[in-house]
Amino acid sequence: MSRSAHPAGPRHADVLPEGHYSAPPADLNTLDPKVWAQTVTRDQDGVVTVGGIDVKALAEEHGTPAYIVDEADFRARARAWRSAFGADADVFYAGKAFLSRAVVRWLHEEGLNLDVCSGGELATALSAGMPADRIAFHGNNKSTEEITRAVESGVGRIVLDSFQEIVRVAHIAQSLGKRQRVQIRITVGVEAHTHEFIATAHEDQKFGIPLAGGQAAEAVRRALQLDGLDVIGIHSHIGSQIFDMSGFEVAAHRVVGLLKDIRDEHGVELPEIDLGGGLGIAYTSDDDPREPHEIAKALTEIVTRECEAARLRTPRISVEPGRAIVGPTAFTLYEVGTIKPLDGLRTYVSVDGGMSDNIRTALYDAEYSVALVSRTSDAAPMLVRVVGKHCESGDIVVKDAFLPADLAPGDLIAVPATGAYCRSMASNYNHALRPPVVAVHEGASRVIVRRETEEDLLRLDVG
Ligand code: LLP
Repeated sequence: MSRSAHPAGPRHADVLPEGHYSAPPADLNTLDPKVWAQTVTRDQDGVVTVGGIDVKALAEEHGTPAYIVDEADFRARARAWRSAFGADADVFYAGKAFLSRAVVRWLHEEGLNLDVCSGGELATALSAGMPADRIAFHGNNKSTEEITRAVESGVGRIVLDSFQEIVRVAHIAQSLGKRQRVQIRITVGVEAHTHEFIATAHEDQKFGIPLAGGQAAEAVRRALQLDGLDVIGIHSHIGSQIFDMSGFEVAAHRVVGLLKDIRDEHGVELPEIDLGGGLGIAYTSDDDPREPHEIAKALTEIVTRECEAARLRTPRISVEPGRAIVGPTAFTLYEVGTIKPLDGLRTYVSVDGGMSDNIRTALYDAEYSVALVSRTSDAAPMLVRVVGKHCESGDIVVKDAFLPADLAPGDLIAVPATGAYCRSMASNYNHALRPPVVAVHEGASRVIVRRETEEDLLRLDVG
C-alpha cells in the first residue's frame, strides 16, 4: 500500500497535508471495477446503478445509510471459490465477515460450507437450513452451552483451540453418546504481513495451540486417546487481508510436518487440513488481490508437494474465506450532511453514519475509497476526509480521498468494499440505529437485514 503524498491539483490548499493518498484520479466519475461490486455501473444520467437499480431509488426506498449488497456478485464469488477448489476440497465461508439467513441460503445453494464462531452464528446458520454437517464450529473460548448445541445438532467439525477444550468437547460428546469430528487449531509461528490485531499465526496470541515446543503434537496425542473425539485434521489460520502467499506456504509446510510426525508416532494419517481464510481484497485501486483459481492452485500445489516429500497421502484441503467472498460485493450508501473546508488542511465531509457502521478505519487504520454516486461531476478534485456523525474525532470512514469540489449536502456518496466486517462489527454507539442490508438482484431490491428502530433499542432497556 505505498502511496505518494504529493498529488497534483489540490483545492483549499496550495500544499497538500501529509496523508495516505495517491494523486487524484484523472476522472472522479470512473468507478474502478477492482473495488466495486460486479454489476455496479453508471446509467445515462450518471447515476450509479447496482443490480439494475439506481442508488437514488435505493436511498428513497430504504433510506441511508444502507449497506447495498449485489447478490449476483456474491453468488459469483462463492461459485468461483467453489469451482477453483473443486470436488477434492471444501470451501467454508467465514460467517463472521457477514452472516444473515439470506446469505446462508445463497451459500447453501452455491455448494459452500460455513464456518461459525459463536452460538448466535450457529443459530442463524441452522435456522436458515444449512445442513449441520456442513458447518464448522470455531472459537477460542466456546461455552459449554455452545459446545453442547454444536454436538447435538451434529456439526461437521469442531475446531479445538486449547487443551481444556479437547477435554470439554470429548466429555460433552461422550455424555451425549456421540463421537465428534474435530480438527486441532495450531499456530505455526508465521508473522503474516497484516495489521497486528488481525494476524493470528504468530505464537504470542490467544488463538490455537503452538507448534513450537511440541505443544501441538501433545494436543494431538491427548485428543487421539479420547473416545468422544474423531480427530480428522489440523487447522491453521494465519491472519487476514493477506496478499502474499508465502505465509500460507510456510504454514502448509509446517502443518504437513506435523501430519508426518503424527503418522510416525501414531501410525495415523489425518485425512484433512484446513488452511483458514485471510485472503486480501481491494479496498482502493492500489490493492491487487489474487483470483480464487490462483489461490487454489498455489495452495493445492504447496500441500501436494509437501506431502509427496513427506510420503503422505495428500489430505483433503479446506479453506475459510470470508472477506474475499463478501467484501467486494457491497457498498455503504450515505447522504452528505455537512461540508467543512479547513484551509490548508482538507475538507471534512460528514455523512449520516460513521464508526457505528464501519469501525475498521478507526480500529485498523483501514483504507477505503469513496465516490459521488447520485450524479457525475466535472468539478476539480478536492481532498476530503469522510467522517461520521458520532461524538468522537476518530469517527472517520475514509481518511484521505478525493471527491468533486462541487459536492453538496444531499448528494449521495458510497464507500465500496464494505461487505465484510462492517455490518458484522456495527455498534449502537451514541444509540445509532444500525443500517439495513439491502440485497439487489436483477432489478429488484430486498431488505435482508432491516434497519434498527428506536423501539429495538428501547426493548433492551428494561431498567
Ligand atoms: N477462519 C478463521 C479461523 C478466522 O479466524 C477468520 C477470521 C477467517 C477464517 C476469515 O478470514 P477472512 O477471509 O475474512 O480474512 N475484523 C477484522 C478481521 C478479523 C478476522 C478474524 N478471523 C477486519 O475487519 O479486518
